[in-house]
Amino acid sequence: MNFIAFLLVLPAVAIAQHLVLIGGNLKDDNVGIWTAMVEKAGGPGVADIGVIVASSTANAEGIKAADNFVQKYGAKSASIISLTTADVSSQEVANRVQSFTGIFFADDSMESNTIDILRPSGVDTLVLQAIKNVVTNGGMVAGNSAIMGDSVAILGGDSMNALVLGTKFEKAFPGNPSSPLVYSKTGGLGFLKHYVLDSHFSERGREMRLIRTTLDSKDLPDIGTSKGLGVDENTALLISNPLSKPIGKVITDAVSVSGVFIVDVSTVPVESGPKATYDQIPFSFFTVNDTIDLTTGEVIYASWKIPIAGEEWFENAIPSADIFSSEQPSQWRQTNRRLIDCKEVNVTCTSIASAFPVVQVFFDRLQAVGFGADIPNDPAKTYVASFRNMLASIKPIES
Ligand SMILES: *[C@@H]1O[C@H](CO)[C@@H](O)[C@H](O)[C@H]1NC(C)=O
Ligand SMILES: *[C@@H]1O[C@H](CO)[C@@H](O)[C@H](O)[C@H]1NC(C)=O
Repeated sequence: MNFIAFLLVLPAVAIAQHLVLIGGNLKDDNVGIWTAMVEKAGGPGVADIGVIVASSTANAEGIKAADNFVQKYGAKSASIISLTTADVSSQEVANRVQSFTGIFFADDSMESNTIDILRPSGVDTLVLQAIKNVVTNGGMVAGNSAIMGDSVAILGGDSMNALVLGTKFEKAFPGNPSSPLVYSKTGGLGFLKHYVLDSHFSERGREMRLIRTTLDSKDLPDIGTSKGLGVDENTALLISNPLSKPIGKVITDAVSVSGVFIVDVSTVPVESGPKATYDQIPFSFFTVNDTIDLTTGEVIYASWKIPIAGEEWFENAIPSADIFSSEQPSQWRQTNRRLIDCKEVNVTCTSIASAFPVVQVFFDRLQAVGFGADIPNDPAKTYVASFRNMLASIKPIES
């Protein structure tokens, strides 16, 4: 049904459609991301943005976002749309929502119920359909990446839970950080297909939680996928043509080493249970202004980045003592950024003593391709590195 509608519309569509996956913790002064959202919603003086608030905790954030769109970034207007279960099947609310040129979901919380309200049991409500029409009609939709996918949505738990306890489908226990990794089997809001999505990514060490969730859900009918994508904080993936041929561009703060992590578990054998061994999981990390074809995996690096091979800066890699830390930010990102840019080693190994049995995590850059450079016009000469096809293996130490 959707497909037929799409075919009928296609010949008339020369208009661009845009989706903005935000990695959480978006700062008011992130000029690149706010400007892109306003621009893709029609530009300054034209953009008319509906700020969706579907939980009481998101109210303050919604008001701040609406203010930011208009006062700082020149949108023509921004209105708060507060949604309860009663509103989402109202034709009147749907008509109003569909009249916007852009939609912004104010939602940055694990306790959010945006998915429950807009897509209960995996079925689009009238208002969610109207929001999807905003995209189809050439508008912009932005929101926390964790809720935007069609594939399973991660509801709680961290990388250590994923490694030791595996995953379950059920509700998270709000506020309990040691609850097992749980995900919703019916998916997120459904704006991007074929990726399990996550946010607050490097900062909270979420690599393993994304990998394990993708492995455990990849055979689900319709929404199963072998690909996962995580967006770092105060970072976004701006996706053009999300419905037909999604191409993503990484947008960060002016000077930032943050980015987007992509994994494909299709070649990774599944072994479940706490003693899980994971062999050669290929993953990539893309930084500011890299462009990724989300269907083919082709990448165009920002024009000022150059191949790292042969130009490595560091002598050695430095393994992290706490690679999946949710407290010490970005251990995985930092370890691999250094590994791709060092002369002496191809593999770095780290042990996680807090897991039982103790596990070792290996990163192997032998087949990886890295691109990097100092950020142009940055007086501090901050170096950013992107790479694809790094391999991670995780093995328990037999005792
Ligand atoms: C990234 O691209 C944007 C727009 O194309 C540009 O304004 C910005 O300076 C670029 N950032 C870097 C670090 O190259
Ligand atoms: C790393 O791999 C390269 C390419 O195969 C090889 O030339 C080099 O000797 C390797 N370095 C180490 C320390 O194994």
